[in-house]
Amino acid sequence: MPANLPRRQVLRTAGALGLGAAATGALQTTAAAAGSPDRVAAMGSPHGHGRLEIRKDPFGTTPEGVKVEVYTFTNGRVTISMLTWGATIQRVETPDRRGRTENISLGFDNLPDYAALSPYFGSTIGRYGNRIAKGRFTLDGQTYQIPVNNGENALHGGTIGFDKKVWKAKVVQTDKAVGVAFSYVSPDGEMGFPGELTTTVTYTLDKRDNLRIDYRATVAGKATVVNLTNHVYFNLAGEGSGSIDGHVLQLNAPSYTPVDAGLIPTGEIAPVAGTPFDFNKPTRIGKRIRDDHPQLVIGRGYDHNFVLGKADSDGLRFAARFWEPEEGRTVTVHTTEPGAQFYSGNFLDGTFQGIGNKSYRQGDAFAFETQHFPDSPNQPNFPSTVLRPGQTLTSTTIYSFGTK
Ligand code: BGC
Repeated sequence: MPANLPRRQVLRTAGALGLGAAATGALQTTAAAAGSPDRVAAMGSPHGHGRLEIRKDPFGTTPEGVKVEVYTFTNGRVTISMLTWGATIQRVETPDRRGRTENISLGFDNLPDYAALSPYFGSTIGRYGNRIAKGRFTLDGQTYQIPVNNGENALHGGTIGFDKKVWKAKVVQTDKAVGVAFSYVSPDGEMGFPGELTTTVTYTLDKRDNLRIDYRATVAGKATVVNLTNHVYFNLAGEGSGSIDGHVLQLNAPSYTPVDAGLIPTGEIAPVAGTPFDFNKPTRIGKRIRDDHPQLVIGRGYDHNFVLGKADSDGLRFAARFWEPEEGRTVTVHTTEPGAQFYSGNFLDGTFQGIGNKSYRQGDAFAFETQHFPDSPNQPNFPSTVLRPGQTLTSTTIYSFGTK
């Protein structure tokens, strides 16, 4: 899809069109998510870009007859497509050092493949990102069981997580940013989790190539546990272009949480110093990925939660920067979350083709899922993931696209 969208299909704010709210129906806009635009702008590209535009197209229909849409929004340089299925990032098109634009995110071009094959490509993950041991936890004296879907453990919210739900979508457009606010209400007891959880995740792209994700959740009735993230997989040389071993990673993490054979944290917070987990200085991902380190053997590569460095006064911290030296694309991540799962695509096995008709094999992409730590409901020394009625969960992650 070209970066400049055909005009007639571009959705606009009521103000820009000079229409009353009634005329724009479901496509009314709201103010972009709160934040510090100047700080955010400083993270992305130094260049100003074109107009912010967004359009909506049909993408498919679920077997139950629910229509799924794709929203495509652009600043004239970076273009992002997102599905109402799973509030999923389907495509991320960014230019390389020489201005050649390519899709750098793994995905599919049709709904049945998302439903049947996707290992969470671009999905919004909930209620609980990563694993809960044996799918079980106790909260306020009551034990809850999530259906297990990863050996004996629950992964990414159980068998039918937020990634397999159709979300409500509302266009968000200001003079600084454009995107979509997705919302989903999860009933009390869904996937075994207590309390009715209302979640809104707002994805906005600004003029400086920052994709900002604002998570917000409240629970009614009972306390619950929540850990929201996005599972976008990137290959900065282009989706389907082979291994990410040559990507250079800088990761602001003094420690990580080692895991057992089922990838459940042991509870230890281990320093990265002197191990293949130390990316505090920019290092090629492939440099040590096959080292004889027991944690790399268990994970078949990197599949670990990193404990990120301290946050700045605005709550955001620099988490990581990925750089692909040949074409020069970079993605820089800032987050309010205390941790991030760095996953080097170890379980991709080439058994299906993605959006560009290429097979995805082990190590062909990375995911960097900002999060609270895995299995926190069973780990008293980890930051709490409990959300109680009357509290509001807020969390922000920013992916900034650039070149070097
Ligand atoms: C997990 C991996 C898993 C991947 C895709 C990551 O968050 O840590 O173990 O294979 O998601 O499901």
